[in-house]
Amino acid sequence: MALYIPDEKLAEIRNAGDIVDVISARVFLKKAGKDFAGLCPFHAEKTPSFTVSPEKQIFHCFGCGAGGDVFTFLMKYEGISFPEAVEAVARQYGVVMPSADMSDRQRQQASEREQLLGLNRKVMEFYRDMLLGDARGKPARTYLKKRAMAPKMIEDFGIGYAPPGWENLIGFLRKTRQSMVLAEKAGLIVPRKQKNGFYDRFRNRVIFPILDVTGQVVAFGGRVMDDGLPKYLNSPETPVYQKRMILYGMHAAKSACRSKGCVYIVEGYFDLLAMHQHGLNNSVATLGTSLTRDHIRRLSRAAGSGDKKAYLVFDSDEAGINAAKRTIGAFLEESMEACVILLPSGHDPDSFLFEHGPEAFDKIAAKAPNLFGFLINNAVSGHGLGIDGKVKVIAEIAPVLGEIRDSVARSVYIQHLAETIGVDESAVLQKVRQLRTNLSARSPAAPQPGLKQGADASEDKIQNNPRQADRMEMQVVAMMIQYPEMIAEVEEKQVLEQFEDARMKELGGEICRIMGRKAGTASDLLHNLGDENQRQLVASVMMEEACWAKQSCLLLLSQFIQCRQRRKNDLLQQIRAAEQNNDHELLVKLLSQKQKQAAGRR
Ligand code: GTP
Ligand code: MN
Repeated sequence: MALYIPDEKLAEIRNAGDIVDVISARVFLKKAGKDFAGLCPFHAEKTPSFTVSPEKQIFHCFGCGAGGDVFTFLMKYEGISFPEAVEAVARQYGVVMPSADMSDRQRQQASEREQLLGLNRKVMEFYRDMLLGDARGKPARTYLKKRAMAPKMIEDFGIGYAPPGWENLIGFLRKTRQSMVLAEKAGLIVPRKQKNGFYDRFRNRVIFPILDVTGQVVAFGGRVMDDGLPKYLNSPETPVYQKRMILYGMHAAKSACRSKGCVYIVEGYFDLLAMHQHGLNNSVATLGTSLTRDHIRRLSRAAGSGDKKAYLVFDSDEAGINAAKRTIGAFLEESMEACVILLPSGHDPDSFLFEHGPEAFDKIAAKAPNLFGFLINNAVSGHGLGIDGKVKVIAEIAPVLGEIRDSVARSVYIQHLAETIGVDESAVLQKVRQLRTNLSARSPAAPQPGLKQGADASEDKIQNNPRQADRMEMQVVAMMIQYPEMIAEVEEKQVLEQFEDARMKELGGEICRIMGRKAGTASDLLHNLGDENQRQLVASVMMEEACWAKQSCLLLLSQFIQCRQRRKNDLLQQIRAAEQNNDHELLVKLLSQKQKQAAGRR
């Protein structure tokens, strides 16, 4: 829950904390002059270029450029939001968050949050004592043993037990003088319908506390120990527990996620615990709900700033796979590659790991297909590649494509689908465009970026336009302007050399010169262009609010290069055929085309 934090409060918290203190709890620091130095936690290095200044209360890495204050550090290192970082420092240094600076409502919210978290922690300890230190915990201990859960897991994850009976927790709350109103708000007790008073929500269940990324107890889940229903009972949403934000196991997984740059996403409590128990500790669980954009954002932050990957781990049931379709756009926007691990039928991660071990799991993970490719294959194996089948595959995948907001990524994926199933790109395009029209008809306020309209207009002609790749050239140019970080990549991969449209190539060259080598802005570029058409194009690209994810940029470039490579191969094949057929006229034409291509690369 994001609290509003007044500036004065922020200053107080910043002053109370010490950046060296906070960082040295997480990174090994050595004194170096008046500063401290260590190995940068944000990139791999062997000699320390990560510096912390106690005087200025900032950190800076001369290697990767990361830098900022104590809050920036915690956000980056722990993968948490700004308010969470502020809260963490405040907590560590005993700064009271609810203060006179806040409105009554804000103060009330802040203190309620603290109270709920405090209560939850005490309740976690109560359940844990029931499991480990009470005769009533015997059946639960036996159950966990039967599920092969290691004592260390029980300890690390704070697992507990709610004994049978309606008022065990209530008795504990009374004895320790907790507020029943608060406990009801925390979802721990439920008001009785017929008479006054409350009863315990969790009875005769193994209890799994749910911690947020900073280690606070925000909710609980409980499992029956037999075939009773419901199998699981969870806390309701409360002011400290929003399902769309919280992933089970995040707290224990975050540092492994960062160091490994990837994360496994499983469904269940036992699956998650089995993953961690088998050393796959970069794992989190969605707890049976579908993965949200907020989840993905948090995972992406936790996985750090390099290349990062998420593995969606499914048992072979259809429901999870269907839900995964809706996450493609979010993964793209968070620059996270998404792959799919499909376990052999009848297995979930828990049963698989205990039967086959982590090496077998790693083997499957190493071959995990990319989510989009997986969805296509899944649709193809469902419908086949007959005429009917292709239509159905497009119908199934087009909605996924329609929801991708990044227009570049969208068109790259459209090309990929068309190629994979062997249909004309325009067929897929048309379907997607139709869906997007419906989408924007539903939300008329959605602005349509300038270039997209241009691109759409040319999409209409694609069917008879053999030079459809011009659109890609235009996309590459737009990308260079809107995401200048990619210019170096464009130069290194010699992308412009493969452009066929001379004007685009020239414009690309100017962008490299002005925005790349001279590090100018897009307006600098605009002022330097002599050609009116080029100016118009650049201006319209500048007006666009495109959101570029690094990953879709890289995808665009590699698709472009592949596309050119294919055309080159095609040409060579045609030349060979023309030679064999002794078709001199055609041969001359083809050879001159080839010459032109080669000239482009010089
Ligand atoms: P085991 O069957 O004991 O191995 O548990 P599991 O964790 O593997 O659960 P399962 O695969 O059946 O379900 C996956 C996840 O969905 C669970 O961990 C729960 O979070 C959730 N879930 C399953 N059944 C229920 C239910 O009856 N109610 C609720 N609220 N959640 C459930
Ligand atoms: Mn299971």
